[in-house]
Amino acid sequence: MTSPTDKILASGEVPAPTGHTTQLNGAPVASENVSITAGPQGPNILNDIHLIEKLAHFNRERVPERNPHAKGHGAFGELHITHDVSQYTKAKLFQPGTVTPMAVRFSTVAGEQGSPDTWRDVHGFALRFYTEDGNYDIVGNNTPTFFLRDGIKFPDFIHSQKRVGPSGLRSADAQWDFWTRTPESAHQVTYLMGDRGTPKTSRHQDGFGSHTFQWINAEGTPVWIKYHFKTRQGWETFTDAEAEEMAGKNADYQREDLFNAIERGDFPIWDVKVQIMPFEEAETYRWNPFDLTKTWSQKDYPLIDVGYFVLNRNPRNFFAQIEQLALDPGNLVPGVGLSPDRMLMARAFAYADAQRYRIGPNYRQLPVNQPLHPVNTYSHQGPMAYQFNPADAPVYSPNRFDKGAGYLDDGETSSSGVSYGQAADYYVNPDPHGTDLVRAAYVKHPEDDDFIQAGILYREVMDDGAKARLVDNITNAMRGISEGVEARVYEYWTNVDAELGQRVREEFAKKK
Ligand code: HEM
Repeated sequence: MTSPTDKILASGEVPAPTGHTTQLNGAPVASENVSITAGPQGPNILNDIHLIEKLAHFNRERVPERNPHAKGHGAFGELHITHDVSQYTKAKLFQPGTVTPMAVRFSTVAGEQGSPDTWRDVHGFALRFYTEDGNYDIVGNNTPTFFLRDGIKFPDFIHSQKRVGPSGLRSADAQWDFWTRTPESAHQVTYLMGDRGTPKTSRHQDGFGSHTFQWINAEGTPVWIKYHFKTRQGWETFTDAEAEEMAGKNADYQREDLFNAIERGDFPIWDVKVQIMPFEEAETYRWNPFDLTKTWSQKDYPLIDVGYFVLNRNPRNFFAQIEQLALDPGNLVPGVGLSPDRMLMARAFAYADAQRYRIGPNYRQLPVNQPLHPVNTYSHQGPMAYQFNPADAPVYSPNRFDKGAGYLDDGETSSSGVSYGQAADYYVNPDPHGTDLVRAAYVKHPEDDDFIQAGILYREVMDDGAKARLVDNITNAMRGISEGVEARVYEYWTNVDAELGQRVREEFAKKK
């Protein structure tokens, strides 16, 4: 039986091609070697369709590289849950015994796609879990902290790290100018300038979710958590000199190391652990637990075992499955939530936005980005739309069909006048003096009602002629409606005005 991980990896792969080549419309190609010219010594022609198509497609082979984290490599495998953390989270992927297919992408931050893996840098450690409840991504680094605590500074930070100015060179001056004027960077710069800035390979480093996240159990009780991924291979680092030497010798050293290890069956493993902070302790902990420049002491919150993940499959195609792998901290599933960390909230916007630009708005329809179970959505169309709904499926919500709505919605009363209470699926606010995230209706004033002003317009503004034309127009526009909707239309106009409801009913009876 094919494992879920293998299914993800095989999706999109075309059967091994044999025989003659075809154009992209499937028609046979006459020659891959000799183009058509007007006579043996004449110019090429515009209607040599294969030549034009081949050149044009070649020009479009790249998508813009990630900004930042452009240089990276990845693999696939499985997450295994060996311990019971169900008292803290109802997330299906973390329930004891669960095995979840996953993807990983390791990266550097500042360098471009061809830059050396061993340049001193923070290294990205990004995980995608294909869970029963949708894709869950933990997009972390090999450090437990970050340079900043507010997302508004992120573009400035990245600008200071990347190539600048007329020379197009990276600038130590810009980097230190930014860091020294950003004192909250000190903790992360200490990691960066220390041994962890030059991990030897991707296999020989720990990973971190870095941010504080919320876990929510089946009873709805929240706790705060931090993820730790402990390499079973042991931490190994290069010295500055070794890293620089390797950058010259083999820019793809870490990519090659991971690929070859998996090819030879030497599958790297990381233990998955979490720190858990009781919900109420967030307010009084000695450091602000949502500040990404800080860690939580393991003496205060020791590591708790959850399970492990193993990387045991290489991508079948680097471009399709790693370059187009769209990892996003906004990919959340029930049982996990965000926190008041401002970096995390900025990230919840930034990644999907980058991916819509970089790959296209339908990037989630690519096999490597598709969740295990079908998506049920009213978002549709757009460039390169591949999936579509059955012909009779409604394209709007609310509707009279059973395509569905949100799990809090009630198809009958669905209206912006209804409140749903706390938005606990994002996170429960830890600040007892603060403002909770809510899904709340407009605050109702004494006379607020959806139909009241339409009734006044009908009764007090319209003269008899306008009323008659209104009834005529409504009933003209009703032609072709279904029986169920017809009944609702009478109820709707009766709510506006009982006499109007009656007139619509009588007038439509004549037109049916
Ligand atoms: C407000 C702060 C941040 C913003 C706005 C931001 C934005 C971005 C963007 C736009 C990308 C490229 C995404 C793509 O094109 O697919 C990216 C990649 C990445 N970021 Fe951030 N980032 C932020 C902070 C962080 C932090 C704090 C971490 C780690 C704890 C992090 C880790 C990563 C990783 C690992 C990648 C590469 C993901 C991959 O392998 O595809 N970023 N970031």
